[in-house]
Amino acid sequence: MTRSRRQIILDTDPGGDDIFALLWLLSLVQQGVADLVAITTTTGNVAAQRTFTNASQILRLMDKSTIAIARGVNNLSHPTEDASHIHGNDGMGNLSTTLPAPTHDFETAPSSDDLIIAHLTAAPGEITLVAIGPLTNLAAVEVKHPGILQQAKEVVIMGGAFYCSGNVTAQAEFNIWFNPEAATTVFSSRTDMVVLPLDVTTRLQFTPEMSASLLRAHPPTPIAQFLAQLCDFMVSTALSYRETRGVPAFLVHDAAAVAYLVYPEVFTFRRGEVLIETQGQWTRGQTLLSDRPAGKTNPNAWVALQVDTELFFTHFLADLQHLIERC
Ligand code: BDR
Ligand code: CA
Repeated sequence: MTRSRRQIILDTDPGGDDIFALLWLLSLVQQGVADLVAITTTTGNVAAQRTFTNASQILRLMDKSTIAIARGVNNLSHPTEDASHIHGNDGMGNLSTTLPAPTHDFETAPSSDDLIIAHLTAAPGEITLVAIGPLTNLAAVEVKHPGILQQAKEVVIMGGAFYCSGNVTAQAEFNIWFNPEAATTVFSSRTDMVVLPLDVTTRLQFTPEMSASLLRAHPPTPIAQFLAQLCDFMVSTALSYRETRGVPAFLVHDAAAVAYLVYPEVFTFRRGEVLIETQGQWTRGQTLLSDRPAGKTNPNAWVALQVDTELFFTHFLADLQHLIERC
């Protein structure tokens, strides 16, 4: 079967689960089903410079340092807290010192909004934007160049919590909560956003047994060892913060966005209008899905509400295995 190669810009705040998503994407690149045009980093799980450095270290580990990395836009209107208590002080399970040094230079790197605008302008309708962090960069793109996000082939977002609890507050999911004004701008930019919210990602529990299976198959490569150590760290914080309700596993939220790119059949979507709460004392960052009849609402998104977990992990583990075997 031939599949067309998607041209992807990954907007990310690595982040333990961001790294699992990135490695899955790199496997798809290696298998010839996707092209990673660039990585745009953003403040979120940890600060902008750290997310940039993490992306660079992972690319070097994978011998992919030729891929461009851009630095995060800094325009937050509200003070926020990062998620280093979940992802480690460095965002990578405190494993950054075990990895090769970064090769990209933060100081001279292009800004994420400028890089995205340049690619969307040069190849209208060709680039898929995959956003797995707060939407700060994408909003900056739309503010600087109104209408430009419509030039993306698709905009795929990990974020939101619709019919389940939030993971930062009772109602809000981290990526939306971190910058709800940015999310409002982005969700107003198109009528066909693709959204992978907590409703599906909280069902994606990656276990130490899964990473052990990746290690067992071959002599342990640096990448397999790194994945196993990162998994162990993420499981320990997931248990501390009761993210998996006591199950030894961690949630690979961001990998859902990568799964959608090549295995969309894993998810079932509902069409509707995504609304973002920016004001509420208790509900800031809440996402709502209005799926009232046409005419009473303005649909802007396809929201995943169900996932075939077994099929998801069958693809995920097979693709990670493929990556490890060839590194
Ligand atoms: C999202 O929040 C971040 O901590 C994760 O990397 C993911 O993108 C899940 O709510
Ligand atoms: Ca993330």
